[in-house]
Formats: sequence, C-alpha cells, structure tokens
Amino acid sequence: MDNAERLFEFPHRHLLGIEGLTPVEITALLDHSETYVEQNRQTNKKKSVLSGRTIINLFYEDSTRTRTSFELAGKRLGGDVINMSVSTSSVKKGETLIDTAMTLNAMHPDVLVVRHPDSGSVKLLSEKVNCAVINGGDGAHEHPTQALLDALTIRRRIGHIQGLRIAICGDILHSRVARSNIHLLTTMGARVRLIAPKTLIPTDVERMGVEVFNDMKAGLEDCDIVMMLRLQKERMNGNYLPSVREYFHFFGLDYGKLSVANPNALIMHPGPMNRGVEIDSEVADDFGRSAIHEQVEMGVAVRMAVLEILTANLDQPAPRNL
Ligand code: CP
Repeated sequence: MDNAERLFEFPHRHLLGIEGLTPVEITALLDHSETYVEQNRQTNKKKSVLSGRTIINLFYEDSTRTRTSFELAGKRLGGDVINMSVSTSSVKKGETLIDTAMTLNAMHPDVLVVRHPDSGSVKLLSEKVNCAVINGGDGAHEHPTQALLDALTIRRRIGHIQGLRIAICGDILHSRVARSNIHLLTTMGARVRLIAPKTLIPTDVERMGVEVFNDMKAGLEDCDIVMMLRLQKERMNGNYLPSVREYFHFFGLDYGKLSVANPNALIMHPGPMNRGVEIDSEVADDFGRSAIHEQVEMGVAVRMAVLEILTANLDQPAPRNL
C-alpha cells in the first residue's frame, strides 16, 4: 500500500482519541509508522514532506517524551516546530485555553498538539480552530499517540495484537494511557485485563470489554504483555492507598509476581516510571523482556506518521470528522 492509499484509510482531520477508530484506521497509522522506524535509524533522518508546515506544541502539563518526540517528528519531516511555554505565556495573565488556541490559530499553524489537564478540553479546542489538532493527553480521558506507539511496539516484538492476553496494572482510574490502550487493544482483538486496588478502578469499566482483577498474581497468570502505570498523584484528591510501601508490596511488579505470566511476557511502561513504587528496578531494566526504551523510540515514528497523514488530509475536501 502506498502513502496515498494510507491517507485514504485514515480520512480524519484531527486525532483526538482512539475511541471510535476502526481496525483499518489503526492499522493504516501503524503501517505508515513502520517506514519512519527505519528512517530514524539512518544517519540522515530528514525528509521534506512537512516543508512549509507549522506545528505548535501547546502543553499545559509537564512532558518529556510526548513533547520532545512531537518536536523531533516535526523537524525530521522538515516542518517548523514551535514549543509554546505555557509558564511564560499570557496564560499566566488569565487567558483561557480557547482564547489562547484562537490566538495561535490566527497565526495559521497547520497542526496544534495540545496537552491539558481537563478531559474533553482538546476536543472543544478542535472545534474552534482551522488547523489539525492532536490530543497529547487530556486529563484522564485519552492519550492516543501513546496507545499507537504501544501497539507498534507490541506488533514489532510479537508480530500481532489479536488474541494476546494483555494486563494493564496500576492507577487505571486516573490514566488516559489506560483508556486509550483499552480502546485500541480491544478493537484489535486482544484480551485486556485491568489489575489494581478497588480504589483505582473506574466503576463499570467492564463495559469496555475488559476483565478486572484486584490481585496481581491472579491477573498476571499467562499474560503475554504486562503494562505498568504510575500512580498519578497530581490527579488524586483524597487517600486512595494506605502507603506507597504497601502498594509496592501488593501491586508493584517484581520477578515474584511476574513468575506467573507467560515466561516471555513483555514488560511495558509509558513513563515516567517511579522505581520501587509500581515497578522494581531489576524488572524495568531487564533488557531481554523490558520494551520501555523501544516504546520511546516508536513514539517518534508514530508521531511522524500522524503528522504526515493529518497534514496531507488538510488538503483533502471534507474529511469525515470535520
Ligand atoms: N508517556 C508520556 O506521556 O510521557 P510524558 O508525560 O513524558 O510525555
């Protein structure tokens, strides 16, 4: 399949979430990302497909991986990338998200990449601007490029997603990574288990087609992938856990708990990691089984693919989700 056919397979103006995407659309994004994995390993990583295009990173929350990889992705494709520093912007003088977005929109960017603490805020913003909008994480709602890079990592390591037993463990309640991954992995035919204390599991989450476990060893049994999540203390308003020490004892991933999973089970973590809280250092640094650095590598390729496809779609008449 060539580039033009892949654009046809993903006829959207924005990437706001994984929910609602079809297996064909997800596969088109993953297939296109593959070309950039190889390009990023070459000495010359540059292409010019985004020449003349402007991408603005507008991050209202801290980020290392997502913001840096969108910047690298845009620059490697020949685009101009601006990182707007919210802490030194007129946001500090009281300007709202929508006024800020419309101000930036007046400068004719082609893509806004937005991270914001409020669920739904990025969709709202997308309705006010003319450019393509990519959700870089909105509250506890979605983080679509994280789920895509996780899927690409799994696909490259194991060859497929369909039929895999995948455990997502930790603070599910506050995790946009968990939500996007549940949508993507169930859509692609994986069997998803959530493992967490009762206080960190959303009510009625079984409706998303997952199984819930409150015991690590029971949940990890025969799993092919173990995806760990950090405790999102910045979104907690109350006491969800007796202590971090007790949390690690019952829910931290160590070789003892991992022993019930598939012997080749892949260990994943979206980062940032809190060593000794949700994951033991030895497990995190297990070069044979941990895919954590590969996930970061895949993040650049996925973001290059998404930027290329969405900017190409800007030139198409009436995309489906305008
Ligand atoms: N996984 C992730 O979103 O990391 P950052 O917060 O560093 O972007």
